[in-house]
Amino acid sequence: MELEALKKLVGAMTLTEKIGQISQLTPQFLGRQDGAITGPLADFPEAAAFVESLGSILGTTSREEVVAIQREHLAHSRLKIPLIFMQDVIHGYRTIFPIPLGLGATFDPALVEQIAQYSAKEAALDGIQVTFSPMVDLTRDARWGRVLEGTGEDPTLNAALAAAMVRGYQGDPEQLAQAHERIAACVKHFVGYGAVAGGRDYDTVDLSKISLQQDYLPAFAAAIAAGAKLVMPAFTLFEGVPATANSYLLQEVLREELGFQGLVISDWGAVGELISHGVARDQSQAAALALTAGVEMDMMSGAYISGLADLVATKQIPEHIIDAAVLRVLRLKNDLGLFEDPYRQITPTAALTEPSSTGRTLAQKAVAASTVLLKNQQVLPLQAGTRVAVVGPYADNRQILGAWHCAGHYDETTTLLAGLQASSLEVVPMAEPILGDPADFTNVDVIIAALGEGELESGEAASKGDLTIAAPQQELLRKLARTGKPVVAVVFAGRPLVLEPIESSVAAILYAWFPGTEGGSALAKILTGELAPSGRLPMSVPRSSAQMPLYYNQLRTGRPASNKTPVKYSSRLMDVLNGPAYGFGFGLDYGAVTYSNLRVSGAGNLTAQTPLTVSVQVENTGDRTVTEVVQCYVGPQVAEVARPRYELKHWQKIELSPRGQAQVTFTVTAADLAYVHRDLQWRSDFGAFTIAIGPNAEQVTLLQGHYLEANLEKQEG
Ligand code: GLC
Repeated sequence: MELEALKKLVGAMTLTEKIGQISQLTPQFLGRQDGAITGPLADFPEAAAFVESLGSILGTTSREEVVAIQREHLAHSRLKIPLIFMQDVIHGYRTIFPIPLGLGATFDPALVEQIAQYSAKEAALDGIQVTFSPMVDLTRDARWGRVLEGTGEDPTLNAALAAAMVRGYQGDPEQLAQAHERIAACVKHFVGYGAVAGGRDYDTVDLSKISLQQDYLPAFAAAIAAGAKLVMPAFTLFEGVPATANSYLLQEVLREELGFQGLVISDWGAVGELISHGVARDQSQAAALALTAGVEMDMMSGAYISGLADLVATKQIPEHIIDAAVLRVLRLKNDLGLFEDPYRQITPTAALTEPSSTGRTLAQKAVAASTVLLKNQQVLPLQAGTRVAVVGPYADNRQILGAWHCAGHYDETTTLLAGLQASSLEVVPMAEPILGDPADFTNVDVIIAALGEGELESGEAASKGDLTIAAPQQELLRKLARTGKPVVAVVFAGRPLVLEPIESSVAAILYAWFPGTEGGSALAKILTGELAPSGRLPMSVPRSSAQMPLYYNQLRTGRPASNKTPVKYSSRLMDVLNGPAYGFGFGLDYGAVTYSNLRVSGAGNLTAQTPLTVSVQVENTGDRTVTEVVQCYVGPQVAEVARPRYELKHWQKIELSPRGQAQVTFTVTAADLAYVHRDLQWRSDFGAFTIAIGPNAEQVTLLQGHYLEANLEKQEG
């Protein structure tokens, strides 16, 4: 439909129809029993009057349901405006991939894009037209249960992966109407949700505008530049005002600064929650605040349904604001081709969206790319025929899909035990309970202990104060260590956990996150070396929960501390060493890589016209192919505002054949030196800067560069 026709359609709508169009409800409000419930359920009987004019449904998980609801709706819709169906396709739809924090560990935008595209295809087959993904919240506090939904603590990595997910879901954003295997992306949660106080979900956020611009906005800017069609504001505050009612965020930053042209949809109940925040006295005022701030669709709070008509009748808000919101909704539906085909080619008997072999192969590739080998004392990979005992609370647990696993089925998921039983290893049955009696392990060569946290211990409303591996698991490992057999820990988790209490009991640690549908099969292949783990930490692993928030690119402080030479008057905790147990970007492979011949062009001088090239030689000294993530960090040595020593600007994930080597080159430009100044503008200052190259943020070789004012040619001329 042309824009003029859409505007004409808005003009033909009654106020009730307009209010219904900018409201989203779950299928329960249409009298159906199914539909995912992802928040507190409020009841608002007045919804009944708006069902025929409803704009959108969220939470369906079958095409039959979508077709039935759409057919029923269109039969009663006076103007035949189709519903739009939205769902949380966060890390897969029916084939579940590693949680997004695991996808962050891949450091592989191309793979992440492929995974998003595959997820979109499955979801579109079941009638989903919009996904509430990517979640791009910067996360520095592992106590927050939702760290599993993002890609970690670095703004540059987050931005690259956010854009990759949007491209994967949407493809060409201007071709969505014809691309029936693509879905629209809703980037969330705008903005700063990951900075909740104490890691407590929904708690207060207090960010400076400099940190907002420097750390929290880049991933949103990248997702919007990639064409994301929707934005979802966070439940939380910015400068004391909930994002859902924050016109500075939703107008000045989102519309004017970031140029977002798509639809803003509130998060579950967030409009009504303005009352709980204490910034609205009732639903009516909440509706007025949210709509005038820029929220164009109300998800599940009922505030628009119950409050807007009176506000218009009493002239507290002009109807043209509602018209503008309705037009945004209709334009999204038009972008998806829903007016021409409300079903986007699906039928009740369309192809099944169960995990196909293609999906399962991709899922196994994703598990290998996201699993992080944290420790390996020459025990992995295991040779064929090795006799293994598989123990621990998650050994035979199908609940390894992780939160937000959408239409994923546990019965389609392989457990670690099942994966190992199908492998080249000899799995020795063990009688429960495992008492750790060495006699029980006489015919066992290696013990594999499946540890971590339960699936429900992370995700929304699942924040934890204590990140330490649970005491019973610590006790089990102490017993296992007494058997004298090497113990390999496979950790399932939705966040970085404190591993120190088990460190001395294990010979190897594989951090598997929640690996998804193919978790057990892929992990078995990793343990036997058929697949190699190439993940690198997207979030720092702490020594203690007390360190939260913990991230590599912390500001330097006036009294930086050093673990090597502890000084009383320095920034530290007296009873915990500074820094992570395992740092950002860390991960081992089944081999060893050396770095040498680090060189920088032009004596390290950089101008606006003359970038620097930094090169380093990496060599695989082992006899197996390895994957290395060579990382390049950059940072100004002196700046107008406090800055970290350096931050990730470039990386290359490369494969090295046995005994192979490669010359890895990075181009460092003036833009890499840019940071947000006091005037909130991104700029690069002339002067000295640090370049740090290495396998992770802690193990780097430092170089110094200079960003010169003059153009080199003139100087040499
Ligand atoms: C939830 C989450 C949001 C999700 C939405 C719909 O409360 O905060 O991320 O997309 O509701 O399920």
